[in-house]
Amino acid sequence: MHTVRRQNVDLRHVVLKGRILDIGGGSEGIIGHMKRNKVVAIDPSERELREARSGGLKIIMDVRMLKFLDNTFDTVTAFFSLMYIPEDDREQVFKEVYRVLKKGGHFVIWDAVMPKRRANQKKNIFVVPLTIIIPRTKIQTTFSAQWHQSGQNRRSFQKLGEKIGFSVIKISERKSVCFMRMVKTNCDRPDQ
Ligand SMILES: C[S@@+](CC[C@H](N)C(=O)[O-])C[C@H]1O[C@@H](n2cnc3c(N)ncnc32)[C@H](O)[C@@H]1O
Repeated sequence: MHTVRRQNVDLRHVVLKGRILDIGGGSEGIIGHMKRNKVVAIDPSERELREARSGGLKIIMDVRMLKFLDNTFDTVTAFFSLMYIPEDDREQVFKEVYRVLKKGGHFVIWDAVMPKRRANQKKNIFVVPLTIIIPRTKIQTTFSAQWHQSGQNRRSFQKLGEKIGFSVIKISERKSVCFMRMVKTNCDRPDQ
């Protein structure tokens, strides 16, 4: 296991508008807990959804194959969920998110910054201890996932988002956490 230093993520001033789809919304269920009835949280793991804090609607579903119609949500959030998606499936995930977002809708991502994993690196699990600050509460947790060979950072998410048709409007990276907000600027399907 490769463990980075504890990171602070401050969500007190984040703006998430309208009807929200939270992908990988099990585990702590931070977005559902904060935004309550505005949130539909999906996760393929029933156990993770049951364990999540209360708030919003929880549905067992895989982000690679969303069961929602096109143009359904104002906002899609991925709070440390993309790190759990295998590299080969990421493009499909971005396409699905793009499809279910309304025109002008936002895709908001918080995730771990992982350097590339060297071929001789034996540690293959990447561990990120977090202190998450939400109104009136601080939550301490740790997320761990497969350490992807080619790593991940704000640039890799930006490149993928722009390939699918998103425009990145906010991007930041601090130590081992990156944040980005991208918008669906036109209605055309990405592969049309
Ligand atoms: C670190 S947890 C996310 C934390 C969560 N967003 C929170 O607020 O605590 C990652 C989640 O992604 C979920 N996940 C993994 N593969 C997924 C997939 N294909 N579709 C949707 N969620 C997935 C896992 O089951 C896990 O609950």
